[in-house]
Amino acid sequence: MPRYEGIINRYRAFLPISKDDAVITLYEGDTPLHESHNLRNAINPELNIFLKFEGLNPTGSFKDRGMTMAVTQAYNAGSRKIICASTGNTSASAAAYAANSGMEAYVLIPDGKIALGKMSQGMRYGAKVIQIRGNFDDALELVREISADGSISLVNSVNPYRIQGQKTASFEIVDELGFAPDFHALPVGNAGNITAYWMGYKEYQEKRISKTLPKMLGFQAAGSAPIVLGHPVNNPETIATAIRIGKPASWKQAEAARDESGGRIDAVTDEEILEAYNMLACLEGVFCEPASAASVAGIIKLNKAGYFKPGQSIVCTLTGNGLKDPDTAMKGVASPVTIDATESAVRKALES
Ligand code: F0G
Repeated sequence: MPRYEGIINRYRAFLPISKDDAVITLYEGDTPLHESHNLRNAINPELNIFLKFEGLNPTGSFKDRGMTMAVTQAYNAGSRKIICASTGNTSASAAAYAANSGMEAYVLIPDGKIALGKMSQGMRYGAKVIQIRGNFDDALELVREISADGSISLVNSVNPYRIQGQKTASFEIVDELGFAPDFHALPVGNAGNITAYWMGYKEYQEKRISKTLPKMLGFQAAGSAPIVLGHPVNNPETIATAIRIGKPASWKQAEAARDESGGRIDAVTDEEILEAYNMLACLEGVFCEPASAASVAGIIKLNKAGYFKPGQSIVCTLTGNGLKDPDTAMKGVASPVTIDATESAVRKALES
């Protein structure tokens, strides 16, 4: 079997990359498409529910698919500095690809609102991490201004190479299933990923690799749901800090994905997100971060409303790894007991 060399090498024919470009990869992609059983049975045994676990990418989120493309393009164009705004995962990914290629990474994050794992990644990979007294939307506006003169490459999903890389997740799903699912569900923050998946599915259908297209289902957190509300949210709030975004940059593209596919963009509450997060871990053994669980929370909500028909297939993207956010993981679970290191004490603890 040939060695796996990341998404650019695997899907080169579908990507804007020239054969002489140096490829900057951390071997991202090729993530598991997990067929759920216990979770499916708990939601609706008549559905086929698959989980595309993007938390198993090299920095623990789907951002790596986009970052290998954005950083490869910037590097080959001669840039040696990248910048981004982030709710955490983009900054971790940018920092890692910058480290790998010997570039400098600068990241702006909302003060106190990013998960511990993401913060520590950015710092450990050696990025310059700057916290702003503002939210993600403020940070994005700032990095757009700062990168406008071209002296530093912007690697947020407004960079078209990010979308190109992220569309490869759709290719992997179709390659593995042999068909496009009836529905594809994913969390929506800045709305780059729903844009990318839709682009990927459409390309595979245009090239007749798949016969059909899925209906795209996007889910925002209820406290940060500008697309659902139809207007920007000035002070977005949610426990799912990754999608705490009030003015998505790819708003129009997300609406196009919804409308062209005949899908939906809906909101789920923090309670619904946490319930799905818990079900994924306890019923399926899949530990994702809270924002990722919005995709599953969304299909649970739609299923209760009778939206799906028996036999339909749904792929939910789980965008990030649960280890990113240990603080949320520890909330609402019982602390471990501490006992003496004796056999009798252990036996007693097992029985209690
Ligand atoms: N899930 C996770 C875990 C994320 O980190 C993000 C976005 C999303 C979903 C939403 O994806 O923005 O393409 O709609 N995180 C960005 C960041 C904003 O800075 O890491 P989207």
